[in-house]
Amino acid sequence: MSLSHDHEMAVSLTQQDRSRRAFVSTLRSHVLQRMSGDLRQHFEQAVEPEYAKSGSPLDTPEAIHEALKGEFSFKAYSSVRTAAQEMVFDVVSDAVDRELEVLNAKAAKPAKHGTLTLNPTLPLPKSVTGIDVHLSPGSYHAEHAEDDVTAGAVYDNSIDVFAFGQFGKRHNDIGTTLSNYLRLKYPDFAPSSILDCGCTIGHNTLPWAETYPAAEVTAIDVAAPVLRYGHARAESMGIAAHFKQMDATAMDFDDAQFDVVFSSMFMHELPLKHIHRYLKEAFRVLKPGGILWQMELPPMNAMPNYENFYMNWDTSYNNEPYYGTFRKQDYRQLLLDAGFSADDFIEATMPRYTFVGEAAFQEAIQGTNTFDTLTGRMDPKGTRWYGFGAWKR
Ligand SMILES: C[S@@+](CC[C@H](N)C(=O)[O-])C[C@H]1O[C@@H](n2cnc3c(N)ncnc32)[C@H](O)[C@@H]1O
Repeated sequence: MSLSHDHEMAVSLTQQDRSRRAFVSTLRSHVLQRMSGDLRQHFEQAVEPEYAKSGSPLDTPEAIHEALKGEFSFKAYSSVRTAAQEMVFDVVSDAVDRELEVLNAKAAKPAKHGTLTLNPTLPLPKSVTGIDVHLSPGSYHAEHAEDDVTAGAVYDNSIDVFAFGQFGKRHNDIGTTLSNYLRLKYPDFAPSSILDCGCTIGHNTLPWAETYPAAEVTAIDVAAPVLRYGHARAESMGIAAHFKQMDATAMDFDDAQFDVVFSSMFMHELPLKHIHRYLKEAFRVLKPGGILWQMELPPMNAMPNYENFYMNWDTSYNNEPYYGTFRKQDYRQLLLDAGFSADDFIEATMPRYTFVGEAAFQEAIQGTNTFDTLTGRMDPKGTRWYGFGAWKR
């Protein structure tokens, strides 16, 4: 388990908090490495050959899911993974609850660096309020007190347990990786305004301010508690960012306001029709010469069959109902539908910048894209993030 809370919104942990968190983190790591390995082995050595013999090969992710559903190794994997996911939020909530008044008061302090603009009348999408997204009680938006930061604090703390260190120090590897990709690949591109959509607590927003210190960085989300927390977290780190409560599918910004529109792990939590609206909005608010650049789950059309089955598990068992539909899309076509041109589409797989360092990163991004078991999956052996987007001409 990694603790990356070097800021004033960090909660203090008792010995019991630490050991409960360490247990759940280890359990998650066990299920994602060991039990998933056993599941795959059972599939390759027993289930797949059996189906092949009977003349009905398992050639789609859905067929693999159907074939594995009744198998003990799949049931064990799914039960332990679901229980571990619920435990993540359970074990971090004690410390947050204990310190909630202090956290809420800290978040209400006047800002020195950036701003926080909330919109209490903003209608919240059902995709956020209708379910406990990825089994997180209260999703991103539930409020427990006035000016509440609970959802943000729980989210920040849960990443320690959930990601067992794989998101990097300050949980910021994705933002650091994608921003440095642009900096190194397009050295003449000098953005002055950057927007992060669906920022949650801004952990992947802040690296943009570090990579491009001359740029003004804005981050939007529909959920107030995560924005309050993210803003306070950024303030305590001394990083200027402007957090705004806004729906990315209907933004309040003028046309052509941003040089970069970024998002990270955002689109797969949107219903398809909202994805279309969001991308049209992204196109509208981008300046000509600007870029849409997003970290996402790799598309099904690029990934091996078993990886697609494995990755889509969350759609059925982790309250991520839009995941599978998103991954089925042709991402290039999604961008064409939003107004971008086919020639301006870019995609890349890349190692984690904060893990490999600039020289190895620079070398890796000159190579070809690789879609395999390390792409888009947290893996201590070397996760590879997937990014896609397009320039606006
Ligand atoms: C998976 S989280 C994104 C995490 C974060 N960007 C990261 O890098 O880890 C999805 C976020 O999108 C927000 N969200 C969902 N629908 C939205 C919408 N239509 N407009 C803006 N934010 C939205 C949710 O409140 C949530 O904070």
